[in-house]
Amino acid sequence: MPRDPDYQIGIINEKVDSYLASLASKSDPVLFEIEKDAEKRSVPIIGPLVGRMISMILKSAKPERALEVGTATGYSGIWIARSLQGDKKKLTTIELDPKMRESASNNFRKAGVDKYAEIISGDARRVVPEIVAKNKGLFEVVFLDVGDKTLYVDLLDSCVDALRVGGLLFADNTLWGGAVALSKDKTPETVTIRKFNELVYSDKRLDAAIIPLRDGVTVAYKKNP
Ligand SMILES: C[S@@+](CC[C@H](N)C(=O)[O-])C[C@H]1O[C@@H](n2cnc3c(N)ncnc32)[C@H](O)[C@@H]1O
Repeated sequence: MPRDPDYQIGIINEKVDSYLASLASKSDPVLFEIEKDAEKRSVPIIGPLVGRMISMILKSAKPERALEVGTATGYSGIWIARSLQGDKKKLTTIELDPKMRESASNNFRKAGVDKYAEIISGDARRVVPEIVAKNKGLFEVVFLDVGDKTLYVDLLDSCVDALRVGGLLFADNTLWGGAVALSKDKTPETVTIRKFNELVYSDKRLDAAIIPLRDGVTVAYKKNP
């Protein structure tokens, strides 16, 4: 559902946002092409600032296996896949829309990550629990960015179960244009994201923080029980 402009208070001042963007060097040609295409087709991708941040955290954590929920055209998947390490490195990413899947598949090939990036077609509601049932605790990274934000709460437990201890959960849009801070906003997406944030912060299995970059990015670490 499109966001109500009445509830858009913004996270970062626009001038600061442009300043941050101006500091970063241009993305490589493949990512840059996807950024331009996303702008043209209004595909909501994480963008270069969040991509850079996730990639740097992952390069330090050295994960081998990642699960992504919400592939779109493969932009965040490329940032994640390129940060994976080891002989068995693998990104598993889930997408409902066949057209997005096709774009992602082409982009993974162009980015040279197609050999170890697998796209699974289907509804995350069904696919995530299926994957987790067979791979419980096997992922070092889970990135939750499904377009239907009302699924965030329903998918949280599966995402945490998918992670091994010491793994990282990222979730995008967790400040939802600032709407989470406006108590008058009772739209299903805002209510769910608010609930998701409370659950993540109070979850005994996790240490969590929301980084107020772009639309808000949650980073949570799965602790030793
Ligand atoms: C925000 S976009 C993902 C952007 C991507 N992570 C990036 O930053 O490059 C969300 C994607 O989730 C997909 N989606 C929406 N509902 C879904 C569902 N129930 N199951 C799987 N994918 C879904 C949409 O088709 C869309 O491509």
